[in-house]
Amino acid sequence: QTKDQANLENVALTIDGQSISVPAGTTVLAAARQLGIDIPTLCHDPELTNPGSCRLCVVEIEVPTAGGMMKMRNLPPSCVTAVSPGMVVRTRTETVVQARRTVLELLLANHPKDCLRCERAGSCRLQAYAYEYGADFPVAGSALDGERRRDPVDDSNPFIRRDMNKCVLCGKCVRVCAEIQGRHVLDYAHRGFATTVAPAFEKPLGDSDCVFCGSCVALCPTGALTEKTKAGKGRPWDVRRKVRTTCPYCGTGCNFD
Ligand code: FES
Repeated sequence: QTKDQANLENVALTIDGQSISVPAGTTVLAAARQLGIDIPTLCHDPELTNPGSCRLCVVEIEVPTAGGMMKMRNLPPSCVTAVSPGMVVRTRTETVVQARRTVLELLLANHPKDCLRCERAGSCRLQAYAYEYGADFPVAGSALDGERRRDPVDDSNPFIRRDMNKCVLCGKCVRVCAEIQGRHVLDYAHRGFATTVAPAFEKPLGDSDCVFCGSCVALCPTGALTEKTKAGKGRPWDVRRKVRTTCPYCGTGCNFD
């Protein structure tokens, strides 16, 4: 049997008690979505390569062993875990929900508490998941209360406002700029706690090769990248208008007035 033939085989598994058969190589996340099961994601996008970095999509997985027993895997991220025969997936156990809440609280621990004034309020994925999972900003003096990032806001151009204090490092802006638009304007800079996303040499966006296509803004799950109105700021429903388009990443700036 060739590798290509093996890849064409279907794999049967169970997700939340529902049986499904999908082609080998399918991720657990994609299989779950075929069943209409909702798994939260921040760094995943079906059109981009996936780093499996945010860990919000973790699930419980048991796989059969050679001896006929089931072996538990340690909360793997479903977006980068391929299905395997006989796999049993649980997407909403108490352990899974607690793990996702902890991931969210770790992100909120280094996030500005300005949701009332944020352009992305009401359309922020981080806010929506925090609401869904009951995650909150850490209380002063608690285990997760600590240092916060204090980056200057890049307001150097008329189109996009860049506030890296609100970035969760999902990297979708980096990947869409490189993989879809072929521009490579944004990339990671620094390491550890200081890690951020910026144009080369941390130039302001207005001094970079950015063509302001808006693809990065469209995929940003938080208020780190937002579009601007002529008045200087704007919530998505203030700025965007619906247009007929065949491509979600068309790069022609059709989201702009
Ligand atoms: Fe799976 Fe981020 S969505 S790790």
